[in-house]
Amino acid sequence: MRVVRLASEIDFAGWRTAARALRAEGVAPEAVVWTVERELFDLDNPAPPSGRTANFTVPAAFVELAEQVILHRAPDRLALLYRILWRLEREPRLIENPADPDMARARDMAKAVSRSAHKMKAFVRFRLIEGAATETYAAWFEPAHRVTEATAPFFARRFTAMDWTILTPDACVAWDGERLSVSEGADPADAPAEDAQEELWRTYYASIFNPARLNPRQMRQEMPKRYWRNLPEARLIPELIEAAQERATAMVAATPRQPSARVLKAALRHSRDAAYGTGAPTTLEEVEAGVSVCRRCDLWRDATQGVPGEGASPAPLMFVGEQPGDQEDLAGKPFVGPAGQMFDKALAEAGVPRDRTFVTNAVKHFKHEPRGKRRIHKTPDRGEVTACRWWLDAERRLVRPRVIVMLGATAALGVTGKATPIGANRGRPIRLADQAQGLVTYHPSFLLRVPDEETRARAYAEFVDDLRQAGKLAGLTT
Ligand code: URA
Repeated sequence: MRVVRLASEIDFAGWRTAARALRAEGVAPEAVVWTVERELFDLDNPAPPSGRTANFTVPAAFVELAEQVILHRAPDRLALLYRILWRLEREPRLIENPADPDMARARDMAKAVSRSAHKMKAFVRFRLIEGAATETYAAWFEPAHRVTEATAPFFARRFTAMDWTILTPDACVAWDGERLSVSEGADPADAPAEDAQEELWRTYYASIFNPARLNPRQMRQEMPKRYWRNLPEARLIPELIEAAQERATAMVAATPRQPSARVLKAALRHSRDAAYGTGAPTTLEEVEAGVSVCRRCDLWRDATQGVPGEGASPAPLMFVGEQPGDQEDLAGKPFVGPAGQMFDKALAEAGVPRDRTFVTNAVKHFKHEPRGKRRIHKTPDRGEVTACRWWLDAERRLVRPRVIVMLGATAALGVTGKATPIGANRGRPIRLADQAQGLVTYHPSFLLRVPDEETRARAYAEFVDDLRQAGKLAGLTT
């Protein structure tokens, strides 16, 4: 297994160098895990690709597509690009095949990135920075994909005579009349709030708004809700629409899917209930809503969201990890980042279909500490694991797995309630209190961090064996 760490989420040059070296060495896509520097678990970069380069050329159309796709937020985009590159050697016409699933996905990603750049160009609104020595403008924007650097030249051309900065959570770009510069991502609080331009925008928007031609669907497509809060004119939308027609209110009122009042009430009760065993959640929907408002320990304070388990239910096989990582915290789903890629590869090798299992974590919020702009993973302590057992126990009761695989020591503590060293217990079935079979194995992140390639290959093979054994015990494989 090769682990490649790029310098940033949009490090195309780094991806290209690594991909060329890997291809020259004949390393198959299934054997590569792609990660980004900020995912670091505070360790050195293990096993970078060798410096070998290949003597093959790739179609310019692929390079163009890859430069777009890398800006997408999907965690698997780097692996997808390498898979396409790898296949291009034997299928030189792959790039022209729109029906191929890899190509279709890459093209969809490129389209989403291009849409996101278009929205950024349309919706960035500069505000005057009060008290600056020279007239300087700033804008806060949250692009759907990582298009900040790529769209900066457009703003430099369009607002050449102004000094401006665009702040986004991914990166900040600034123009001083001559040069563009890029710095680390920012906080919304860094952007100034109000100035006289707002009123101008509102007047402009009100004047071009034609209630008689109101089409809420189209309007939402053109100006998606995610951008409203940065747009002064968006504040007018409810007012204007209300005056226009009834169906428009649906647009303003449209909120993401909400759990029912009953589920919400139950969730709030569970979120603080210190007494185990009373009024436990009765559905996974209640668990999901409860995790989203959980205050049983303090980890919610620094996390983006609680991440409940997901998958089949009932399911014969449950996997329990430690806690969401950086990408899981952002996506709200377990095992979608680098550890998830490693986990998916091993599951595929073991022949275990992930969609027939339930995948969760011992702790539902991401514990980390900031280091610069990076969020460094921290292992949850016993108190946090114990507090979160309320949710894990509820998931176990509701999913009723025959076999529970504990991925690492924190998972084992969450499932068994006791410290269970991996070295001494790995691969041996344990009878759990609810009569399910327990199986302890490595955590996929551990496998990503083993520095020595030979040791890593051995541990990985043991991990796949453990998953195979779990699949058999659960009756999912023969
Ligand atoms: N590590 C875990 O333990 N769980 C996840 O969901 C992701 C990384």
